[in-house]
Amino acid sequence: MPVRACSLLIRIAELFPHLLCGFSLSAVALISFGKDLQTLTTPSPDANKFTASYEKINELCYQRLLLPKFLMLLFRDYKLSKLEKTIAGLVEVMDGFLYDIVKQRKEEIALSRKQEKEQKESGGAVVAAEQTAPLFATGKFRGDLLTSFIKHAEETGGDPPSNQMLRDVAFIALLAGRDTTASLLTWAFYEMSQHPDNLAKIMEEIDRAYPPAASGSGGAPAEPKGDDMTHLPYLHAFFMETLRLHPAVPHDTKVCAADDTLPDGTPVKRGDFVSYPLYALGRYKHIWGEDAEQFKPERFLDEKEPSPFKFSFFNAGPRLCVGKRAAFLEVMIAAVMLLQKFKFTIKKDHNPAYKATITLTMRHGLPMHIAPRDK
Ligand code: HEM
Repeated sequence: MPVRACSLLIRIAELFPHLLCGFSLSAVALISFGKDLQTLTTPSPDANKFTASYEKINELCYQRLLLPKFLMLLFRDYKLSKLEKTIAGLVEVMDGFLYDIVKQRKEEIALSRKQEKEQKESGGAVVAAEQTAPLFATGKFRGDLLTSFIKHAEETGGDPPSNQMLRDVAFIALLAGRDTTASLLTWAFYEMSQHPDNLAKIMEEIDRAYPPAASGSGGAPAEPKGDDMTHLPYLHAFFMETLRLHPAVPHDTKVCAADDTLPDGTPVKRGDFVSYPLYALGRYKHIWGEDAEQFKPERFLDEKEPSPFKFSFFNAGPRLCVGKRAAFLEVMIAAVMLLQKFKFTIKKDHNPAYKATITLTMRHGLPMHIAPRDK
């Protein structure tokens, strides 16, 4: 391979976590509000500003949690600190972007309903416009959360959701879905580099499901399509095991709504913060066995889907992550498409230290050398 092309590859490789964040932001924006932010290609200046504000706000909100609660609430509610003033400015940028999308989506649905009515009156076949939008091509992903919320209210005769509520829906899905999937993908690629035997099994499974083009044919291998990845059980087990040892949400905190008693008898008072440490739960021997500290995707291969109260990395009960299925689909499709085309080698002496944020991020990113698979 020519040296120039090679160094370009390495430079791109050093941006790997940013690429994954860009990818997962694009994917989750499509899922939550049906707009292609084109973060990996040509984002609009507005999308760029939105993304930059989003990145910053994520970091700053975590700093909030380091303050004593009463100070945090005082500073937040009265914008008393520089931190809170900066956050308020960033919220304004993000609100502008999200409210525009909410407005557009409502207008599109209203137009679609008007066209349906006209078609009905003229006796033609009625097809809801959002049903005809190509899946990703036009940026009108028909299954997006905003559309679902608006349609659900229409269908059940409920009050139309307010713009503020729809903004919150779009934002919470972005927040919940971007860094989590990027974290899972990053740690999975790290673990692949540490476990070549497991990687060989993944490649075998992918090549069996999507046979590579015959050598010299110039054709590309088939790409994964559809919304079912059950034909890749080993890859699925590999991601489960990655999440067990590197939970994208390493601890989850709740605020008590009322005085209560935990199952072990510990009393908690209204307003208390209670955290459960997912990072530690994934390592308990009494839950996972004596080999709890070893990376072994096989533990998930023959087991039926473990109970969310055991595999609690997406939470459990009524607040179970609504994006769980989408997350697996997203990371599995991304991994297949990357591994079909490229070989990834982690930079020597890379220190995979953690960075304390809301999600489990790699402090120094994941610098890797990336080369075409057949070289
Ligand atoms: C590896 C990927 C992911 C992990 C580990 C993860 C984990 C979690 C966890 C632990 C919660 C519970 C938070 C709580 O205690 O209330 C949660 C909630 C949530 N997640 Fe995920 N998530 C992932 C991906 C996604 C994706 C891709 C989406 C969106 C498409 C998403 C959307 C949500 C939403 C909307 C909630 C809030 C549910 C509620 O308020 O009840 N998540 N997620």
